[in-house]
Amino acid sequence: FRYLRWGFRLTYLYVLGSIGYVIYDGYVSRHPDDQFTPDPSKKNLVILGTGWGSVALLKKLDTENYNVIVVSPRNYFLFTPLLPSCTTGNIEHRSIMEPVRQILRSKKASAMYYEAECTHIDSERKVIKISDNSDVKGDVHVTEVPYDLLVVGVGAENATFGIPGVRENSCFLKEIKDAQAIRTKIMDCVETAGFKDQNPEEISRLMHMVVVGGGPTGVEFAGELRDFFDEDIKKLVPQIADSFKVTLVEALPNVLPMFSKQLIDYTESTFKEEHIEIMTKTMVKNVTDKFIEAEITRPDGKKELTKIPYGLLVWATGNALRPLVKDLMSQIPAQKDSRRGLAVNEYLVVQGARDIWAVGDCAVAGYAPTAQVASQEGAFLARLFNNMAKTEALEAKVHELSSTLNVQPGNSAQIVKDIESTERQLRRVKDIKPFHYSHQGSLAYIGSEKAVADVAWLNGNLASGGKLTYLFWRSAYLSMCFSTRNRVLVALDWVKAKVYGRDVSRE
Ligand code: FAD
Ligand code: NAI
Repeated sequence: FRYLRWGFRLTYLYVLGSIGYVIYDGYVSRHPDDQFTPDPSKKNLVILGTGWGSVALLKKLDTENYNVIVVSPRNYFLFTPLLPSCTTGNIEHRSIMEPVRQILRSKKASAMYYEAECTHIDSERKVIKISDNSDVKGDVHVTEVPYDLLVVGVGAENATFGIPGVRENSCFLKEIKDAQAIRTKIMDCVETAGFKDQNPEEISRLMHMVVVGGGPTGVEFAGELRDFFDEDIKKLVPQIADSFKVTLVEALPNVLPMFSKQLIDYTESTFKEEHIEIMTKTMVKNVTDKFIEAEITRPDGKKELTKIPYGLLVWATGNALRPLVKDLMSQIPAQKDSRRGLAVNEYLVVQGARDIWAVGDCAVAGYAPTAQVASQEGAFLARLFNNMAKTEALEAKVHELSSTLNVQPGNSAQIVKDIESTERQLRRVKDIKPFHYSHQGSLAYIGSEKAVADVAWLNGNLASGGKLTYLFWRSAYLSMCFSTRNRVLVALDWVKAKVYGRDVSRE
């Protein structure tokens, strides 16, 4: 009983401490310290994008060392790992967004933000062209921004491989608006299937949700969708329950190629239990408004064309280059052999370019296009830029000390000592090791409150799947959310969805 009492006391203290911290955090974010404006003679550091790479850079950057200018059409950071949960309303979209204004306001020195798309990088003149592509435009909506240092962190767009009909008929899953469009379309399909006198064949088509791409995006979405149906839609619209079906179409022989064989098998067997059909070795070739045409490779190697009717089609076949990245690559001869993005060296400098760095999905540094890689690259660049600024300050100090040596010969011993100590500091600061990615593991949600994890563990790898891994998945992503505000909102959304169910209103 004594231990139990202590347990209660400690839990009570923990809860009280957490509440206190949340209140303190809210107060601090509502009452930020005054910011100072950096010296205008400092270098212009222009950062493109507000995704994982750019925001990790901003988080760790000493903004007082540069005139920092952020350009992105999206005025918020998006925590993409929880985006599949927004498609079903398990998490509300604003819970995983962090306004870039809030991020910049928390820095010691102010930084500029322009909500715009960078449409061209002129690496010769060292200027970028930016365009306000939002609905509300002022008289000036196209202009130029000069840079001394430029970081390209614009991510990637959805790959369609030029397959006809994909853009017109399917939903992607990359941005908030995509998740909202999917959420609306799921309910539209359900309500249309429930329309009076709807014929059975049409009900089957409308209730067939097809996901193309068996990478983690497709797998997580399929899992979330099945949960939504089993836990909420089925109870509220029972008349369409028998027709609901989820199919995952993948061109390769298995889903989740980046996970170990054991976890691939686990995912496939879990999907079987959840009645999610997996069609592997099936390559989609054409998409119309009501069906997809795919080529199936049979075990004997024979190929066969099939038509799959669908109500909702989610296209998750990976990344393609953004036009801005293609345009920059075309200006740099050293990039002519790079196909998957801007080739960078071990310091993330764009090869063949002067004063341009690249991070995240738009950069090719030899790693997978993941948030984990992008954020480590961004943090590395922050250290690099902080060190570059320190180097310049120390070099200026050595220069100044050397000049006083001539005019104050009486103090020469002390000045020489100072020069030596500054030079020692300089050598330390200049000794920046190249970027090294440290893989922490891969996690994916697979539905029915189960997840799979391949986690780095004691110089090896730990593979696990199931309900416990799901708890780990939840706590890992909760702790990785950008801010305490995000963490609180996501946790409340989970509680809300568990207690009241997901909201099935369309819109
Ligand atoms: P992004 O985060 O995509 O950011 C790009 C930024 O550039 C955006 O702000 C965009 O608005 C801006 N931009 C675009 N064009 C321009 C332009 N012309 N000018 C200026 N700005 C521009 N990875 C993991 O490691 N773990 C996960 O669990 C995980 N889950 C994911 C789930 C989903 C649904 C998706 C889609 C991806 C997931 N990823 C995950 C991958 C991860 O999100 C990406 O690798 C990561 O977002 C890449 O970061 P980035 O900074 O390169 O690009
Ligand atoms: P992906 O590139 O990982 O997978 C796309 C899949 O689509 C591939 O398996 C490919 O074979 C298949 N495909 C391509 N064309 C096809 C066609 N015509 N017909 C059928 N199948 C086709 O893409 P995804 O899932 O969007 O992920 C992008 C990046 O984001 C990856 O690096 C991934 O690791 C990362 N990510 C990580 C997550 C996690 O760790 N939980 C979650 C989501 C994304």
